[in-house]
Amino acid sequence: MAKVLTNPSHSLKEFRILPGYTPKDAKVQDVQLETRLCRKSGRFIELSSPFSSAAMQAVTGVDMAISLAQLGGIGILPVSQTIREQCSKVSQVKRFKAGFQTDIMTLSPSQCIADVLSIIKDTGYTTFPVTESGTFHDKLIGILTDKDFDERRDLSVQVNERMKTDVQFGTEITELRAANDLMIELGRGFLPILSKDGVLQTVVFKKDLDKHLRHPNESIDEQKRLLVGAAVSTHAEDRERAQELIANGVDVLFIDASDGHTEYQGEMIDFIKQHSNTPVVGGNVITSEGFRFLVDAGADAVKVGMGIGSGCTTQEVKATGRGQGTALIEVGKTRQDFAAESGNYIPLVADGGISGPAEMAVALALGADTLMMGNFFARYTESHGSLMRNAAGEIVKEYWMEGSMRAHNMRRYAQTKENFFEEGIAGYVPHVGSIFDKLPTIIQMLRATLATAGCRNIQELHANAVLEMQSPSALLDSKIHDIVPMTLDQQVL
Ligand code: IMP
Repeated sequence: MAKVLTNPSHSLKEFRILPGYTPKDAKVQDVQLETRLCRKSGRFIELSSPFSSAAMQAVTGVDMAISLAQLGGIGILPVSQTIREQCSKVSQVKRFKAGFQTDIMTLSPSQCIADVLSIIKDTGYTTFPVTESGTFHDKLIGILTDKDFDERRDLSVQVNERMKTDVQFGTEITELRAANDLMIELGRGFLPILSKDGVLQTVVFKKDLDKHLRHPNESIDEQKRLLVGAAVSTHAEDRERAQELIANGVDVLFIDASDGHTEYQGEMIDFIKQHSNTPVVGGNVITSEGFRFLVDAGADAVKVGMGIGSGCTTQEVKATGRGQGTALIEVGKTRQDFAAESGNYIPLVADGGISGPAEMAVALALGADTLMMGNFFARYTESHGSLMRNAAGEIVKEYWMEGSMRAHNMRRYAQTKENFFEEGIAGYVPHVGSIFDKLPTIIQMLRATLATAGCRNIQELHANAVLEMQSPSALLDSKIHDIVPMTLDQQVL
């Protein structure tokens, strides 16, 4: 007979954190959000903020991965692309060096302005180095910007007739401060850096540099390169993908499977472990048995969550899944028991159903070390989904689930063309601007939660947080009630 658990499972949204005694050194600005992403060679990969972007096409591309690593988190590049594309993105993130760019679009002198216009339209770039052959690592002969030509008259004119040739540049600069000082001295927002014989090495944009100086808590490896992760499936053909990603310098592999408690997953973890010491995050699981299985298989962290992603239909079509609050409580308790038995700490990644700061705080308090989010990150300019206009005329961001027809990621759900059914939908989320403007406020909110709970860091939150389930009426009280929000068109009489 089936075993039936009659206690309902609970969502993160049902819990609130009770205040604890706040010592003086748990002041909001002193609270640390450093966290452990996964084990690595007897230690841990650490992040200064507990964020990971979901391994989803709509969420993580190069821009998101770089931006999130600059802000102290990590981006996970999705498996639903060719091995080549995924590896190229890994190396673009690894090559990005705090404002020093090596991959920007360059022009050849014989291209015509019509070409340039279409590049500007496709990419949004407006400043282009011109090199002898048109490729990046070649002799720089000029700079063309969108201000250097007339887009009606010059369509058939060649780039070399309009480019500026009196280019100001730096020579063999590798230090950020030196590049910054030179840009200030020259009054420029863009600086090409050349080798002694005039070959373009990198370019520096002041706006990128400013970002770097403003965000000193980047996630970096021993060689000061940004951290990046990538997803692999459990399918045997992805063994090659895992090896290629490792060869391209990926810092951590995330196994992308809706159900991680499978023999396939055990075999994939085993394969990766036998061929490298790159850490592997296993998942997804929602039970104590699932956690133990992944840890026995060698996982360096465990991803928790099933059926609770914002656009996920798994629970409706398959009736499998669990409230994320309950999943974290059960797996968190097993993680603690395992640590007591073995002395090994296994970080948990809470994956799915986390779209706002309250859910983030509760997931952390229930034992998560890192928060993996799709919907939340899809809203930022830096996400991979396109901007679009909805029927009401608002600018929104496309967001589609990996189990949707739109994603065409059938392997994630062990499906084929013939037996495909959707486990998620395609839709959109509000566009909220740049991650650089908004994430610092979210970080501040989390710090404030920890301070109120009397905790100085995430470890103390795990150990000391007191959470309470709320009744439906208590939850109503916890939202805005009995007041109509003021809008700009209202006036005091
Ligand atoms: P969100 O942050 O609530 O939008 O959830 C994102 C998470 O949902 C991802 O990290 C995946 O674990 C999961 N996910 C992605 N696509 C699907 C799907 O199509 N069905 C079910 N879960 C999905």
